[in-house]
Amino acid sequence: MTAFAADWLALREPADRVARDLELLARLADWSADRGRLSVLDLGCGTGASLRAVAPLLAVPQSWLLVDQDPDLLARCPETVGMATAATARFDLAADLDLLPWDAVDLVTASALLDLVSADWLRRLVALARDKAIYMALSVDGRIELTPAVADDAHILELVAAHHRRDKSFGPALGHTAAAALRDVLHAAGRAAELRSADWVLGPERAALQAALLDGYAAAAAEQAPHLAERIRHWRALRAALSEQHLRIGHQDLLSLPAAG
Ligand SMILES: C[S@@+](CC[C@H](N)C(=O)[O-])C[C@H]1O[C@@H](n2cnc3c(N)ncnc32)[C@H](O)[C@@H]1O
Repeated sequence: MTAFAADWLALREPADRVARDLELLARLADWSADRGRLSVLDLGCGTGASLRAVAPLLAVPQSWLLVDQDPDLLARCPETVGMATAATARFDLAADLDLLPWDAVDLVTASALLDLVSADWLRRLVALARDKAIYMALSVDGRIELTPAVADDAHILELVAAHHRRDKSFGPALGHTAAAALRDVLHAAGRAAELRSADWVLGPERAALQAALLDGYAAAAAEQAPHLAERIRHWRALRAALSEQHLRIGHQDLLSLPAAG
């Protein structure tokens, strides 16, 4: 099991919110406007960030089912947002994806989840959601720019990418390739799917998120290469000593609407 701390999710939520591609959200809103009521399934909901970001943009009554394996995060989810009411369910998505109430779902969403999953899991998802709208936001895509550069940036980021591909209980993780892989699986199933960049652009005003992210990179790199722990600490100290830094972290949003009819 991979544990995500509530304070990390709270730190990233404002950056996620401004990064989401507005055109895909507008298209989702247009699609939903034709419906009397919308049933939404949010996979790996954390504390409900997708509900907070998306529900107010959909001008119809909605019932959301928020699913996660972590009861502490589920306990922090809101019960209503705008025209949406939400229920939570504790679920292991790696083992039990098929057991979710798919028949009742119109729209399946997730955010910051896909990098954890495997190619096989994506194929299962697309089969189960064959007649649903799919909106998967904020999947990291491997583009990382750290400015200014310091010694060992490239080496550390290679270790982070390798760590990213470790099994997170879903099988071999797709890491940075997940959003493109989902688009390809959808196309192979005869569905339209569009990817849009939804990058984090983190200046000094997001120093706390920058620090947490770089701490995470250092920890992942050290787990991947324990014999390089000292060198990794040195890299982290170099970045901490910068008077200011700018980070761009590439993410992708994906929207696939079901064929009309
Ligand atoms: C990076 S967090 C994203 C949370 C939320 N969607 C957001 O954007 O803030 C990934 C979430 O996936 C959940 N998760 C990871 N593996 C899971 C699994 N096997 N079953 C259910 N949830 C899982 C974690 O508990 C965590 O809440």
